[in-house]
Amino acid sequence: MPESLHLPLLVLAAVLVMAAGLPGWRRLHYRSFWLVAGYPMTALSVWASWRRVALGCGLTKKRQRYWFTLVPGSVASTGLVKVKRRFQRVSVDTRPFMWLPKPTRHGWRVTLHTLEGQTPTDYSEAAERLAHSWGVHAVRASSPRPGRVVLAATVRDPLVRIDQLPPSTELLRVTVGRLESGTPWMIDFKTIPHWLNAGATQSGKSNLANALIVGLAPQPVALVGFDLKGGVEFTPYEPRLSALATTRAECSALLADLIALMIDRMGLCRMAGARNVWRLPPAIRPVPVVVLVDELAELYLIGDKSEKDEVARISTALLRVAQLGRAFGIYLFCSGQRIGSDLGPGVTALRAQCSGRICHRVNDPETATMTLGDLDPAALVSARAIPAETPGIAIVAGQDGQWYRARSFYVAEATAEHTARTYAHLAPDWDRVLNPEPHDIPA
Ligand SMILES: Nc1ncnc2c1ncn2[C@@H]1O[C@H](COP(=O)(O)OP(=O)(O)OP(=O)(O)O)[C@@H](O)[C@H]1O
Ligand SMILES: [Mg+2]
Repeated sequence: MPESLHLPLLVLAAVLVMAAGLPGWRRLHYRSFWLVAGYPMTALSVWASWRRVALGCGLTKKRQRYWFTLVPGSVASTGLVKVKRRFQRVSVDTRPFMWLPKPTRHGWRVTLHTLEGQTPTDYSEAAERLAHSWGVHAVRASSPRPGRVVLAATVRDPLVRIDQLPPSTELLRVTVGRLESGTPWMIDFKTIPHWLNAGATQSGKSNLANALIVGLAPQPVALVGFDLKGGVEFTPYEPRLSALATTRAECSALLADLIALMIDRMGLCRMAGARNVWRLPPAIRPVPVVVLVDELAELYLIGDKSEKDEVARISTALLRVAQLGRAFGIYLFCSGQRIGSDLGPGVTALRAQCSGRICHRVNDPETATMTLGDLDPAALVSARAIPAETPGIAIVAGQDGQWYRARSFYVAEATAEHTARTYAHLAPDWDRVLNPEPHDIPA
């Protein structure tokens, strides 16, 4: 072989080895692969193809421009217009100005300048078309300020595999999973006191409750369970629970306890001149109570006439807890397969009090609508598109008014049971919670 051929062959071999190694690199360490190899190529191609993509997704606007040409025929060949004169006004398709895409953990993000008459909703509606045009898992549009839209593309679903539940460090705040943006998904009862957690059967509702129990168990918090599945879900966690109700009659009694507790705490706050328990001096601040309800609908179902009064009593009591509980350190986390208005006006009123919304996979559009309320319609579509093979994925309404896809960390029942036993000594005695020692009350 001639000497002059050695170098090109070596280069070719190196390129082939690198090309063959790319899939392995991608599999072994996706993050570094994405930042070094995947992102630069993607950014260039997104930028270069933006005119075509914007045109295809209906995000361009017609504008009049002056056009000057020395050879009129050449302009006609662009397909824009048929130009007969050298200098004239023509109609052209203008695309929104795009900055260079920036890499994110699971894809990229790019800022656009909206065109006249466009709103962020136009971009949200085009999100699915954009995702298909760019060949990515999903595109989400948000608007940091008027006139700007940020498109965040996720190359592949980051929620297919997620890591383990990290320990919780702050009172009443638990990191229960991860949002699709890669940031932690937190349930913070001090910010959002009451939560609705809906989803079809086997969608991951109880797993999320397990994650909460594991996160809250080491904290100075009283946990109370309402398990309308006959106690099969929460009984194993009884060592760490201060009270557990498994039948409707027990729920009624426990709700009466909670209301009495709330009234006592109202008196305590009034005497101390505090608007809520968090303004009381730490020495006399009562322990926060987190109430976990599983199978909420069971509380509202009326079999025959005799149950009507009991259901009305329970419904009113639960609503009172939801309305006033926040100020007195009582928080609700209600899970159920259906949380519809067909269960009665009590459910609708309760729903209005629960500002935290979590919607796991649902079978019917009504449940998604009722859980997520009047969020962006794309959120409802997304809730219905959650595949059954990925339990734990949910649509979450965030504190910023936006919605996110998120997935809870997998918490095996055995792990939750073990945690409940480990921290059993931290479970406050329910009688002591209801009747604090006299020296706890200010003079
Ligand atoms: N985040 C997750 N990651 C992996 N697996 C999960 C996750 N969440 C739930 N699962 C699995 O999905 C299955 C159903 O979960 P779970 O019992 O929480 O559903 P559910 O909505 O409470 O169902 P049901 O309405 O029947 O009580 C369980 O086997 C659980 O292990
Ligand atoms: Mg369950």
